[in-house]
Amino acid sequence: MDLKERNQTLKEFFDRKTVGYDDVHLAFMESKRALTDVLPDGTSKVLDLGAGTGLELIPLVERFPDVRITAADISEDILGTLKERPFADQVTYVVGDFFETDFGTEFDAMISTSALHHFAPEDKVRLYKKVYDALRPGGIFVNADKTAPDPAAQEEGFRELEEDPHRWPHMDTPLTIGAECTVLEEAGFRLLQVSPLPNANYYLYSAVRPE
Ligand SMILES: C[S@@+](CC[C@H](N)C(=O)[O-])C[C@H]1O[C@@H](n2cnc3c(N)ncnc32)[C@H](O)[C@@H]1O
Repeated sequence: MDLKERNQTLKEFFDRKTVGYDDVHLAFMESKRALTDVLPDGTSKVLDLGAGTGLELIPLVERFPDVRITAADISEDILGTLKERPFADQVTYVVGDFFETDFGTEFDAMISTSALHHFAPEDKVRLYKKVYDALRPGGIFVNADKTAPDPAAQEEGFRELEEDPHRWPHMDTPLTIGAECTVLEEAGFRLLQVSPLPNANYYLYSAVRPE
């Protein structure tokens, strides 16, 4: 299964998960709030990669009431919930596979949570270069995501996926902390912070596009 097919299976998975998504994911608000907590004062233009129903945008708008948001997601269905939120008029949408869509430029911050643990390191470098190019110099990328506990667990995820790509459409293939940091640095970022989050195996990575 190539990356395009994989992303299409993820789209179909999230289209089906739209109803009831928030009931499950409200339990993880502490980790989602952490994205906002590390952003600098004055943040005003933010892109959310894999925004889903926009739960992580609730604390973002609380802290930065005038923030302009771009929500990038492959599932138009899941974005339907975001479109009903009280701050919906502050949001514009980029619908499609984030390996293919045009994010725009000059963002102060790109944020993401629970959306990027499905990609091989070489694909992630390509995606993170796109993220880098969409940020203004000095802009920040913050990702709160699932992390493999060690290299063997990382390899096991990719091996299982290769063996039977259709067994579980939402198959997780998270990278280790070391691999994730290497990918960020290969894309041009300077790492600022890596810290554990309350959800099991979740870490927050923040990195800056140097001035
Ligand atoms: C687990 S949800 C996370 C949603 C939200 N960030 C949250 O934490 O509640 C992952 C989201 O990433 C989106 N996604 C996954 N792969 C994608 C891709 N290749 N391009 C764009 N969006 C993608 C899915 O459609 C889904 O809405």
